[in-house]
Amino acid sequence: MNTLNEFRCLFPAVSANEALARAALSAFLIPADPTAQELADLRTVISEAVTNAIVHGYRNCSGDVAVCLRMLPERVLYIRVSDKGCGIPDIEQAMTPLYTSAPEEDRAGLGFAIMQEFTDSLHVRSSPGNGTVLTMRRKLGRIHAEDD
Ligand SMILES: Nc1ncnc2c1ncn2[C@@H]1O[C@H](COP(=O)(O)OP(=O)(O)OP(=O)(O)O)[C@@H](O)[C@H]1O
Ligand SMILES: [Mg+2]
Repeated sequence: MNTLNEFRCLFPAVSANEALARAALSAFLIPADPTAQELADLRTVISEAVTNAIVHGYRNCSGDVAVCLRMLPERVLYIRVSDKGCGIPDIEQAMTPLYTSAPEEDRAGLGFAIMQEFTDSLHVRSSPGNGTVLTMRRKLGRIHAEDD
């Protein structure tokens, strides 16, 4: 992977850090001059991923969430969000739109569907007890004269 720029951070799984992850994404992406729509989509994507790590991954324990952002050639943004929490027993079920393991918390079960809708690829690696790693890619659309 030919990485043009990279940002990595690790923070404790507390909900205040969802905003921190969004802010980091914005600061990383803005030099690439995304459209307002791309920025909004990708802020939503990272928010859903980090929230899942915090509320599901670390439901019964504490720990850190790791975020890695990369700018790849041809304006492809790579996002990795990982936790070392409880893991996902059935990934296919978890990714089914409207499935949630926490209906009592009024969760809609739409986080994965949103992440899929707003990215070009989404890969989930997870197993019970070993945490979860999400990797996503989204190509930015706007072409700049200097890129031609
Ligand atoms: N990092 C994670 N660790 C453990 N389980 C997870 C993780 N991320 C997702 N899950 C599981 O996958 C399910 C579906 O996630 P999804 O984000 O689609 O919905 P949700 O979080 O339940 O609801 P919403 O995102 O709409 O608030 C979760 O209910 C949870 O069981
Ligand atoms: Mg969710």
